[in-house]
Amino acid sequence: MKILLTGGAGYIGSHVLLAILKKKYDVIVIDDLSTGNINLLPKNTNLIQCNINDHEKISQILQNRNFDLVMHFAGFIKVEESVQNPKKYFQNNTDNAIKFFETCNKFNLNNIIFSSTAAAYGNPTNNNSITEDEYLKPLNPYGESKMKTEKYLLNNKDKFNSIILRYFNVAGADPQLRSGLISDKATHLIKILSEVAVGKREKISIYGKDYKTKDGTAIRDYIHVSDLADIHLKAASYLLENKKSNIFNCGYGKGYSVLDVINTANKLFDNIIKFDYEKRRPGDAEKLVSNVSKLSRTIKWKPKFNDLNLIIQTAVEWEKKIYEKSL
Ligand SMILES: NC(=O)c1ccc[n+]([C@@H]2O[C@H](COP(=O)([O-])OP(=O)(O)OC[C@H]3O[C@@H](n4cnc5c(N)ncnc54)[C@H](O)[C@@H]3O)[C@@H](O)[C@H]2O)c1
Repeated sequence: MKILLTGGAGYIGSHVLLAILKKKYDVIVIDDLSTGNINLLPKNTNLIQCNINDHEKISQILQNRNFDLVMHFAGFIKVEESVQNPKKYFQNNTDNAIKFFETCNKFNLNNIIFSSTAAAYGNPTNNNSITEDEYLKPLNPYGESKMKTEKYLLNNKDKFNSIILRYFNVAGADPQLRSGLISDKATHLIKILSEVAVGKREKISIYGKDYKTKDGTAIRDYIHVSDLADIHLKAASYLLENKKSNIFNCGYGKGYSVLDVINTANKLFDNIIKFDYEKRRPGDAEKLVSNVSKLSRTIKWKPKFNDLNLIIQTAVEWEKKIYEKSL
């Protein structure tokens, strides 16, 4: 299999790259390193540093290379930033993505795996567990920018076969600690908790304690990043065999409140995680839990790391490693 991977120097892309290299598939990474980190790439990675909106450079890359498919991770991901600066998100996550897909199409590269998000659902009507046919009503420009790109792919089924993967909350790090999340201003709960655990930060702020949930804090479905990487390989085989577009939720189908996560970490790490409460953030949903039966049934995926303790432990181990190395 020959894969073109955008955003490979980022958190999720770098884990997928490890899984691809383990399979010994051919892969070229495109990344402009705007939020990515070169230290996340294994030595000898075939990296081309460029923006996905650079039509000429992308055309040169595609010329005579015959990729089987694209895995498109490149994008911006901070909900709060998207509320403050929506244009930045529509430009990169929608316009640049579409321009890139059009360039791919010119070179007959039409099989696409697209990183989308549960943020596209907004506050779902059936919030027990969300299926892929739930109505999309994003609460923030980030979710909207991804939804628009999804729509583009779905409206152009004559040009593209796409697998849209709607990730729920991705967390944890490679169990061998070859990759993990590097970001100075990360907004992910388990990242922030890890920074507190290693002494980089004093405490966690919990945004909102008045949601209609068991303890008032928001509920999310956390999936280990290495399980998510495995989903991409299975989705790639499915796409190449079936040449048919599809949409899958990626999660474990189990919800944890913010307090559940902090309490789990405090059991693991001797109550060192201090926290306080702040008011709700604009754009945050109350509860997002996936229904993953379609994914399990269709691509025959079984999780290997479905354990909140393990997710937190790998995230904290990784945080220790990058703290010591000042990455
Ligand atoms: N992390 C999550 O919990 C989560 C949840 C849902 C969806 N996603 C989606 O998954 C994808 C990857 O997320 P991540 O957490 O790895 O983010 P990340 O910021 O770590 O990685 C994104 C990578 O894309 C690169 N990039 C961004 N814009 C680019 C451009 N125009 N041209 C070339 N490279 C560019 C960045 O340098 C970075 O290496 C994103 O599209 C995101 O929306 C992530």
